Amino acid sequence: MHLSASCVCALLISALFCEVTDSSSVSSLYGETVAIPCKNKDIKAEDIIMTKWKYDKGQGLSGDLLVRQTNQDAKVSATDEYKDRVSMAKNSSLLLSAAKLSDQRTFICMVVTATDVKEYPINLEILKVPAGLKISDKAEELAIGKLTKLGTCVAQDTNPAAKITWLKNNKPLEADGKRIVINQSLDVDPASGLSTTKSTLEYSAEKEDTDAQFACSTGSFATGELVSPALTLTITYSTENIVLQVNSQAPVVEGDNMTLKCVADGNPAPTSFNFHLKGELVKVENADTYTIVNVSRNATGEYKCSLTDDPSMEASRNITVSYLDINLSPAGRIGKPAGDPLDLTLQIDSSAKSKVSWTKDYAKLDKEPKFTKLAYSDSGFYECEVTMGPLSRKAFFELVVEGAPVIKKLSKQRTEDGKNKVLICEAEGSPKPAVSWSINGSLLTESPFVNGRITHKITVAPSENLTVSCTVSNVYGTDRKVINVSPYDSDSDQTKLVVGVVVGLLVAAVVIGLAYWVYMKKSKQGSWKTGEKEDGSSEEEKKLEEKVEENSQKAEV
Ligand SMILES: *[C@@H]1O[C@H](CO)[C@@H](O)[C@H](O)[C@H]1NC(C)=O
Ligand SMILES: *[C@@H]1O[C@H](CO)[C@@H](O)[C@H](O)[C@H]1NC(C)=O
Ligand SMILES: *[C@@H]1O[C@H](CO)[C@@H](O)[C@H](O)[C@H]1NC(C)=O
Ligand SMILES: *[C@@H]1O[C@H](CO)[C@@H](O)[C@H](O)[C@H]1NC(C)=O
Ligand SMILES: *[C@@H]1O[C@H](CO)[C@@H](O)[C@H](O)[C@H]1NC(C)=O
Ligand SMILES: *[C@@H]1O[C@H](CO)[C@@H](O)[C@H](O)[C@H]1NC(C)=O
Ligand SMILES: *[C@@H]1O[C@H](CO)[C@@H](O)[C@H](O)[C@H]1NC(C)=O
Repeated sequence: MHLSASCVCALLISALFCEVTDSSSVSSLYGETVAIPCKNKDIKAEDIIMTKWKYDKGQGLSGDLLVRQTNQDAKVSATDEYKDRVSMAKNSSLLLSAAKLSDQRTFICMVVTATDVKEYPINLEILKVPAGLKISDKAEELAIGKLTKLGTCVAQDTNPAAKITWLKNNKPLEADGKRIVINQSLDVDPASGLSTTKSTLEYSAEKEDTDAQFACSTGSFATGELVSPALTLTITYSTENIVLQVNSQAPVVEGDNMTLKCVADGNPAPTSFNFHLKGELVKVENADTYTIVNVSRNATGEYKCSLTDDPSMEASRNITVSYLDINLSPAGRIGKPAGDPLDLTLQIDSSAKSKVSWTKDYAKLDKEPKFTKLAYSDSGFYECEVTMGPLSRKAFFELVVEGAPVIKKLSKQRTEDGKNKVLICEAEGSPKPAVSWSINGSLLTESPFVNGRITHKITVAPSENLTVSCTVSNVYGTDRKVINVSPYDSDSDQTKLVVGVVVGLLVAAVVIGLAYWVYMKKSKQGSWKTGEKEDGSSEEEKKLEEKVEENSQKAEV
């Protein structure tokens, strides 16, 4: 092209001294005033006689624009469309206002000196940047796997024509004809010659495209890259996974409120569900939960949930409602006669295996208590605890072993100073027996009532020989024993006793008689203990024998 321009020049100017310097090009923005420089640096300013601008009209023709002669203003010589748009700058540049596409041609600066004529052709290029990239016909949402027209990107009125690329998360999308289809079209306005590029993107979304940003770009365009505002779309997809959840992490326990939750994915998420409660169908709308209050063990079974609009999307779950019931017999406070057996039963009704532990008076027992023959020491507060996982139940009974009191021992001691006597009455029985003496003494101590035993001590100061009795009694009966007390030391008493044989024998006779009478009476009635038993047990008999022996010893004394 430059070559042909110089040929034209050569043809036009027949003068031998026609010279054409290297042409170059200059670009400018559409609509603005262009300054096209005259590249005459090789000529001294004072040598210039005339500077003239013209342009290449094609077909070997040129059009005059304007001329400037030494010390004169430039004169416009153009008569065509350039007439009102051209002027010359001091530095000889051609100033062309309101540049348009048709101005893209070769302009020639001709400089005449006394000895030479030189021409400097320059190509003018006009650039037009789009006002901005816009995406129109935007899709609202993309269904996964469905080729959908995402939008059309328009680069309006450009020069040169723009080439549009689509971006996803700032990375170019390559059309593959299947998942990504890009269709680009170009329109040239016949009047202005400006190009309008339209690019349509059809896109088949994946789940990962949720929150992806789409945009279109001109790539590297004349004045730099232009990118449209980003576009984010809703990615829609149908439910792929459905799960039935139960509110509590721990096992569901009888009496709990059980909330079933149907968790399904999909966008938009499903809003209504069918709950299948062991065969019963419940439809829930605008919620994904269903609560059964105060579940009973009957609620154990298979539960399901499904989508109302796609029953094949279904989740199921077997739910077990845990329960633990215990029944302890005896319960509460119970009184039982000493010597009797006591049957203990602990019934456990539970949904799984349970563990049992026992305490007596809050101290741990190794195993379940057994009572074949109740002793006073068996009395106490018994508690059992049954546990099954997080569940725990407690039951208790308070056992009081009861019976008529029996005097185990009646004895005497001297006080330390030797002046007085201490009488000691030891008895067993429950409830706590009342202890009384046949003599006025001062109470020394009364032991605590533990395991049915009590010890009662009094101090007496006898002024004469006495027969003192201790009587113990509660609601079940009474027992009495007697002891002889003299004001003297027991040792000296014995020696002195020998002297009063007659009195002694008399007393002995009376005592034996009394003892025999007591024995006969009690064994006949058999009522000294329980008042019911006709034939006393061997133990009772032994006790009686002991008693008689004691009495006869006294009698001997
Ligand atoms: C010549 O002058 C014009 C207007 O004054 C200016 O725009 C242009 O840059 C100048 N050119 C050179 C090569 O100095
Ligand atoms: C895109 O391509 C199809 C066929 O390949 C054609 O029919 C259509 O006109 C093209 N242009 C647009 C903007 O869709
Ligand atoms: C729970 O149900 C049981 C019977 O299944 C009933 O005895 C109990 O009172 C109920 N509890 C509440 C808090 O409704
Ligand atoms: C549990 O089921 C039994 C029979 O299956 C029924 O008799 C009873 O009333 C039910 N109890 C509750 C609390 O639903
Ligand atoms: C629930 O139990 C039934 C019967 O035992 C069984 O057929 C079913 O597969 C179970 N369902 C689940 C989800 O475990
Ligand atoms: C004990 O003393 C009281 C008065 O202090 C008297 O009334 C009572 O008869 C006395 N009892 C005996 C058994 O001596
Ligand atoms: C009291 O008993 C003692 C023997 O224990 C006897 O020596 C004494 O004579 C008795 N006194 C009276 C007054 O009976």
